[in-house]
Amino acid sequence: MNWFSRWTKKSPDALEEEGRFLRPAVHDASGARTRARDKGRHPHFKVLATDQLHHGRGDELERARAKLRDAFTPSQPVSNIAMFAGRGAILTRLIRAIEDQQLHVVIYGERGIGKTSLLRVVSGLADEAKYIVCYTSCGEGSSFSDMFRSIAGSIPLLFHSGYDPTQAEIESGRTMADLFPPGEVTPHQISELFARLSATRVLIILDEFDRSPSGAFRRMMAELIKNLSDRSTRVQIVVAGVAGNLSELVEHIPSIRRNILGLQVPNMTAEEVGELIGLGSASCGLDYRDDAIDLVAHVSGGLPYIASLLSQHAGIAALDRQATMVERSDVAYALDLATEETRQRLSERSLRLIQRIHDQGRRAALIALADHALHHAGAIELDASQIELAAAIETGLKGGLLEPVGDEIGERFRFVEEGVPVYLWMQFVDESLKGGRSTAFAKAR
Ligand SMILES: Nc1ncnc2c1ncn2[C@@H]1O[C@H](COP(=O)(O)OP(=O)(O)OP(=O)(O)O)[C@@H](O)[C@H]1O
Ligand SMILES: [Mg+2]
Repeated sequence: MNWFSRWTKKSPDALEEEGRFLRPAVHDASGARTRARDKGRHPHFKVLATDQLHHGRGDELERARAKLRDAFTPSQPVSNIAMFAGRGAILTRLIRAIEDQQLHVVIYGERGIGKTSLLRVVSGLADEAKYIVCYTSCGEGSSFSDMFRSIAGSIPLLFHSGYDPTQAEIESGRTMADLFPPGEVTPHQISELFARLSATRVLIILDEFDRSPSGAFRRMMAELIKNLSDRSTRVQIVVAGVAGNLSELVEHIPSIRRNILGLQVPNMTAEEVGELIGLGSASCGLDYRDDAIDLVAHVSGGLPYIASLLSQHAGIAALDRQATMVERSDVAYALDLATEETRQRLSERSLRLIQRIHDQGRRAALIALADHALHHAGAIELDASQIELAAAIETGLKGGLLEPVGDEIGERFRFVEEGVPVYLWMQFVDESLKGGRSTAFAKAR
């Protein structure tokens, strides 16, 4: 008897009969037979950690399940161009800007819109074209000097015009970083050094720029971009981050406006979402029915993150039904699940305020705010015709669900928690689907 059966005064067998307690198979004298019985009664891992299927269960459904996790990767950017859907226009524009116009580029857009995926794909293409690609993600603690020391550290001295390829320094594997003086490096020193670059081109990609410290770091970046453009060096910088507009992301824009191209990553079109699902479907072997694809496109509103998340959950739902055709009902189930997952990540405070605004009868206003935020990189900017939203905003601001953005008090807002607009939107569609309230749904859109 163990502690649980002692406490309940029942034998393990009796408890097991009731389905309340499972004796660990390892202590079980009857061995394999019991384990086989347990496997039928409980969920189990279907794919080995080595990515192989369990012996004897490698049927079509399990192969599809094993491939599904790579077919849709909602929590990771796409870096394999074969899985990169749509985006032809912006990719072409970006390559032209780098190659033909030799401009520095600022890519901006809302969270989950596909900025990093675009950067990964462009990095791969530049690498194929023999560029030296330096990809860095910014963070709150980013130091301008350390970052550029490390970038210069990935450029071999071989590409410095002042060095002869046969010199000993080159053979000993030294890099451009070795030419910096000790201490903090300045934009001026970096552009001086990069001006000596020859026989190659360097592409510096700074992702998550919105997370970089504002102030000195961003000021130095602007200064560097200006210096590099003035000297027409063989180095180009692509900066990317979450923002509703260019100046939100790069401070001191007026001084570098002529030297940069701003590219906003737009929401995907329904065709592009269809392509995303088509690529995933071809890779895992599941078929997605047309009305299921339409529903994913509709709910996602062109956000690839949501499209990828729903497609993956819907695929799992179909496989759980032992089916290889993903139906609209699987997407509806996936939406339910994704909404709940998103809700669990929100703070109690946000959930309480959402409830309070609902109770005030202002649910439609809240959905309208979420919809606005989702299509304007999180920012809510109202015009005079949207006065009916003011009361919901006031409650949201008082309780800390919303906060003002920028200096102009009372003009622009955002949800304090990033996940709130996605949650509100998914919850709304989810409930509309369950209640068949499609007219209300179409109206709010
Ligand atoms: N062109 C695409 N084709 C297929 N899937 C895509 C594409 N773009 C983005 N995705 C998917 O959408 C999700 C979000 O993409 P990504 O991480 O690139 O967005 P992001 O804008 O960088 O997000 P964040 O603002 O959180 O950094 C990922 O799961 C990625 O797999
Ligand atoms: Mg990203």
